[in-house]
Amino acid sequence: MHCYSPSCLFLVAMFWIVVSYYLYTPFPDTAKEPWKQSLTTAMFKLFGILSSAGETLQIDSATNISRKLMSGIATSMYAGNPNVQVEKLIFDGVDVILCRPANKQGKLPGLVYFHGGGWVFLNTDSYRPLTDALCESTEAVVVSVEYRLAPENIYPAAFDDCVKSVIFFLQNAVKYNVDMNKIGIAGDSVGGNLAMAVALKLSNDPNLSALPRLAVQGLIYPPLQFFNFRLPSYIEHGQGPSLLTSKLMAFFALSYMLGNATYIPHLLINNHTSRSLKHSDYSHYVSHELLPKEFQSTLDEDDVRLDFGDEALSAEIEDILLDPYFAPLMATDAEIKKLPPACIVSAEIDPLRDDSFLAAKRMAMNGIWVRHDHYPGYGHGFFAQIGFYEQSLPAVISFCKCLLEKMNS
Ligand SMILES: *[C@@H]1O[C@H](CO)[C@@H](O)[C@H](O)[C@H]1NC(C)=O
Ligand SMILES: *[C@@H]1O[C@H](CO)[C@@H](O)[C@H](O)[C@H]1NC(C)=O
Ligand SMILES: *[C@@H]1O[C@H](CO)[C@@H](O)[C@H](O)[C@H]1NC(C)=O
Ligand SMILES: *[C@@H]1O[C@H](CO)[C@@H](O)[C@H](O)[C@H]1NC(C)=O
Repeated sequence: MHCYSPSCLFLVAMFWIVVSYYLYTPFPDTAKEPWKQSLTTAMFKLFGILSSAGETLQIDSATNISRKLMSGIATSMYAGNPNVQVEKLIFDGVDVILCRPANKQGKLPGLVYFHGGGWVFLNTDSYRPLTDALCESTEAVVVSVEYRLAPENIYPAAFDDCVKSVIFFLQNAVKYNVDMNKIGIAGDSVGGNLAMAVALKLSNDPNLSALPRLAVQGLIYPPLQFFNFRLPSYIEHGQGPSLLTSKLMAFFALSYMLGNATYIPHLLINNHTSRSLKHSDYSHYVSHELLPKEFQSTLDEDDVRLDFGDEALSAEIEDILLDPYFAPLMATDAEIKKLPPACIVSAEIDPLRDDSFLAAKRMAMNGIWVRHDHYPGYGHGFFAQIGFYEQSLPAVISFCKCLLEKMNS
């Protein structure tokens, strides 16, 4: 079909103006690389629209269509990296991609990596651009884990897969020519949640005490708690403009927790925790009072109210909500004290900004070595978008330096 007539061109132009207007989200003046960030958010919104349309047309579920769109775009734009060799393996029943620097001989350090995507989206193939870059930059053997996704597989499926693959790698390090005393774990977004959860498990479970100690944990803008959705960063950045909104985060948390998102409205106003939980130690573990003073000033009275909560819902979900392997900031100080050193990365325009600040604070309070690199002006997801944002690769390289410093000490 051709469109040369003025009326046809006019219709096409109108269509694009309407679409751009609908998809365009301005970023604040302080944002870095703002038009690229707007483009990322627009692309994300477009995927949402196409997925719902596809579901309406009964092509597949919106979730499955989004999965294909996201992975398809990521893998089709990647040509590979000549400086690394990858192979697909199975570690104790879990699919992994193992990446080795091409020209490195001898025993190397190792890094197990957990990808992001809200526990619902993306996979190890679509993360090749990042995991290959981590492999090249650290000159370590990188293992990228294909953990099972929600909502089909709810907690603890993804966590169990991650634990299994790390234990297998620690026990079989010699076979892969990896120094078992120089193995770290890391992940971005929910991958960071899984990394800290695995670190807690390996350092606290007496049954695993015979394993070599993890050298480092790398946490990149992770969600670490689902107790308090009224932290300053949720309030400031939860409506966008970055692609991760409070609502989407609540959707991800519930998909992983229960396999459906019925309770989103409760989470967004903290109605999912009872009054007594709001007065418990758990509440103190994630209190706004642990954050820098300048963040706290954005809160109003309603954000810090403790006198309400749906008791029945709270009782229904409390076992998982307070489980540190689901929400690592629910760990006690005694558990935090046993963690390996941490390299933390956070972004400013991100509802999860404060989870990183809370983790850094609680670890430092408990004597854990922490380096926290905060990136003002960037949104959730910037780190993994190598080759798109100017800041992504420098951030990756700086993160790798931090990991290596701890692997080699
Ligand atoms: C996605 O597709 C697979 C395979 O057809 C199916 O088993 C699964 O239930 C679907 N998931 C969702 C969330 O629709
Ligand atoms: C340790 O292993 C024993 C025996 O398999 C089991 O009963 C126990 O629950 C395990 N402990 C933990 C903390 O998982
Ligand atoms: C959502 O999950 C909860 C907990 O498993 C269950 O009680 C509820 O019926 C589910 N709701 C829907 C709409 O599937
Ligand atoms: C919390 O949930 C309860 C029970 O569903 C409801 O009655 C109450 O209005 C909710 N609280 C708020 C602040 O919306």
